[in-house]
Amino acid sequence: MSENTQKPKSRYLSGKEIRAIAKENNKVMRALEKKKHRKAAESEFLSQMKDEKNILEVEDLHSYFFTDQGVVKAVNGVSFEIPQGATVGVVGESGCGKSVTSMSIMRLLQGPYGQICSGSIRFKSNDFKRDEKGKPIPIWERDEQGIVYEPVLDKKGVQKLDRDGNPVRVPKQRRDAYGTKLFEMEEKVFDIAEMPIREMYRLRGRQIAMIFQEPMTSLNPVLTIGNQLDEVTFLHFPGSTKEDAKRRSIEMLNLVGIAMPERVYKSYPHELSGGMRQRVMISMALAGDPRLIIADEPTTALDVTIQAQILDLLRDLKSRINGSILLITHDLGIIAEMADYVVVMYAGRIIEKGTASEIFHHPMHPYTIGLQKSKPTMDTEKDSLFNIPGNVPNPIDMPDYCYFRERCAGCVSRCFGDYPPMIQVSPTHWVACHLYDKENTK
Ligand SMILES: Nc1ncnc2c1ncn2[C@@H]1O[C@H](COP(=O)(O)OP(=O)(O)OP(=O)(O)O)[C@@H](O)[C@H]1O
Ligand code: SF4
Ligand SMILES: [Mg+2]
Repeated sequence: MSENTQKPKSRYLSGKEIRAIAKENNKVMRALEKKKHRKAAESEFLSQMKDEKNILEVEDLHSYFFTDQGVVKAVNGVSFEIPQGATVGVVGESGCGKSVTSMSIMRLLQGPYGQICSGSIRFKSNDFKRDEKGKPIPIWERDEQGIVYEPVLDKKGVQKLDRDGNPVRVPKQRRDAYGTKLFEMEEKVFDIAEMPIREMYRLRGRQIAMIFQEPMTSLNPVLTIGNQLDEVTFLHFPGSTKEDAKRRSIEMLNLVGIAMPERVYKSYPHELSGGMRQRVMISMALAGDPRLIIADEPTTALDVTIQAQILDLLRDLKSRINGSILLITHDLGIIAEMADYVVVMYAGRIIEKGTASEIFHHPMHPYTIGLQKSKPTMDTEKDSLFNIPGNVPNPIDMPDYCYFRERCAGCVSRCFGDYPPMIQVSPTHWVACHLYDKENTK
């Protein structure tokens, strides 16, 4: 094991120091909370994509936790993109900031301690076009004569009449393949990091959906699956009736391969197996018609066969909705099977990113190479697995040199200087390591 060249700093803080940290933290947290809960005109958080092919661009994101021991820089300057229709995998060992990155995109960091401190999260949204009163504009059914009208029926199915005895008729709204009413849409780029939290309802669950590791904790145990699924339609599709919502929910359950959707619709979460619950979670994520699905360890709680089925399902659905997936896992096998691009994180930073083929066939950062070596394979005859010796630096007190230095076997003299910059080694491949810094080969 390489020796720690840094003099260990005291982990114990005096009461005075803790109070000083808390005071400083309070000041920063209050300002960030105020920004989060402000009222803001849309123009304040409208943005532009750097590359029109992308659906999401994260740039220099800093998400911190303000604790009494100091500031935990859980995400410390992360930049990556998700192209439309692509799956981007995020790997890295436990605690490297994968979940905090995804929670930042959803703006779900637990305030006031967890905050996005700086950076941009640009998302190409497909939002409802609204009239001057802020209401979504319906798309009406049309024929050669113009807008098609339909009769209004009462609860018993009898045609309603006006005061003069004429049938009441209203414009007929167009519906999608699942029978849900359609509205005019428009593309806008939002900077999620700048959005007031109350505006996030436009994106969360509808345009960006999240699938968590443990479906049991994400489903409400006292409501039926149907109730919970219908709620998504009510929330995200204005003017939906109970029948519209039920029809959509059953269709969604069908889509994720649930055999008796009517029965599952009436079931409670505890009546279903783990794999079924994860399918329900995926159907719930799909019900909002998302452009981006964030799956944080979606199969970790499932056994291998169910895991394979869920991954197949995700792949199939992604191509059906032409959406993108941000797939977070520490299982390199899953990444190899699913991802088009891979982002490798270490201690809150990205240390390498590239296409899946670049990361798997030409890993460059010593940490990525170590990760590949530590992957169990059938054809190795060794009786113990390779491990990367050493620990991640203390997150409250990160050094100003390469965070991997204490664990790195390939250190060069330059590594005793500044933190390495991101070096581009191909149009799509980047690595943060001094070994590839051409001007500094010493
Ligand atoms: N509420 C919190 N308060 C303080 N620190 C936190 C909090 N939540 C997360 N952190 C810290 O943020 C860092 C990143 O955590 P995160 O949950 O993103 O890791 P992860 O990469 O998702 O790990 P895992 O693979 O175990 O899920 C860790 O150092 C963690 O200790
Ligand atoms: S910069 Fe130096 S210490 Fe860091 S990973 Fe590269 S070789 Fe190792
Ligand atoms: Mg996590």
